[in-house]
Amino acid sequence: MPLFDLQGPERNRPAAAVPPTGSAAARKHGIKPMPALAWNARVAAETAHLYERIKTVVPAVEWPVFAPYVKAINALKRERNAVILAHNYQTPEIYNCVADFVGDSLQLAREATKVKADVIVQCGVHFMAETSKILNPDKTVLIPDSRAGCSLAQAITGADVRLLRQRFPGVPVVTYVNTSADVKAESDICCTSSNAVQVVESLGADKVIFIPDEYLARYVAAQTKVRIIAWKGRCEVHERFTADELRMYREGDPGLQIIAHPECPPDVLAEADFTGSTAHMIDWVRNKRPRRVVMVTECSMADNVQAELPEVEFVRPCNLCPHMKRITLPKILDSLVYMKEEVVIDAGVAGKARRAVERMVNLKN
Ligand code: 13P
Ligand code: SF4
Repeated sequence: MPLFDLQGPERNRPAAAVPPTGSAAARKHGIKPMPALAWNARVAAETAHLYERIKTVVPAVEWPVFAPYVKAINALKRERNAVILAHNYQTPEIYNCVADFVGDSLQLAREATKVKADVIVQCGVHFMAETSKILNPDKTVLIPDSRAGCSLAQAITGADVRLLRQRFPGVPVVTYVNTSADVKAESDICCTSSNAVQVVESLGADKVIFIPDEYLARYVAAQTKVRIIAWKGRCEVHERFTADELRMYREGDPGLQIIAHPECPPDVLAEADFTGSTAHMIDWVRNKRPRRVVMVTECSMADNVQAELPEVEFVRPCNLCPHMKRITLPKILDSLVYMKEEVVIDAGVAGKARRAVERMVNLKN
């Protein structure tokens, strides 16, 4: 019996609709006046400490554009009793200047279970905002642009999972968090890139359905004796990296360190000195302080680590996630002024999805 079995549709299936958003949050919390967004000496003085954090990666000439938004967003967060949870792929001015908490998907989900504020503004993609809502059904969860999707989340539907269960009766379903609430609701447990092997092995099964990232599934299959039934989903950002380009970088500098995200193809991971989630990659650079490193992942993350560790040189084979990049300071400000765009999940779906997410969050490290 092969250890790896790949299921799923052919590529280019039409995208699933993004779930609708509602305006109940605006009715509940009210709309605020749009703050003035002028750049002047007072704004410069009040935001100077924030610019310090990003001065190595954001040119001084750009700060007068960002600073009025940063000041207005931080003031409105206090007025609204709101927190901003931001993913490691957010741009430096968001990650360093307005976020209250930053991290990988698992850290953001764990943080979402502890939020005391009334409002969560999720600076990341839609599935991350849904995870926060699943864990906080009574709080208002906003995403600055609900079109911030994910090619993995688009790759599978709840109906697909039901068909897989029919095809493989009794086999447990482990679902990457990069999925819709509908898919999570059909799952036994969720996982992220930082705990995927641990989650698979926690089930004590000899076979699991692991969806929807084919490459993450292959990475897990290479590290466990559990037989993996995978799905043909791919991250549109990580699948573009090639082993050839990494070999080319290494030929130019044999001391170069290569660290990669497990959503990359297997031949890319074979070139890497370390593979891990975005948070594990950041920790690796913090601890090892390499002279030169290439982070084989979305490119804003190198900017964020560069801001913290100016002595490390980052080689940047830049692949942007177009979905993450939909989140901008002006849209975050709009979120807090107009209380949009609210994440709404059917209560029945959210309840079933919560079981799968909480089962993961509650696993011991
Ligand atoms: P992490 O959980 O490693 O942050 O990954 C999320 C993601 O979308 C990577 O593309
Ligand atoms: Fe999805 Fe890939 Fe973007 Fe991550 S980088 S949000 S997996 S499309």
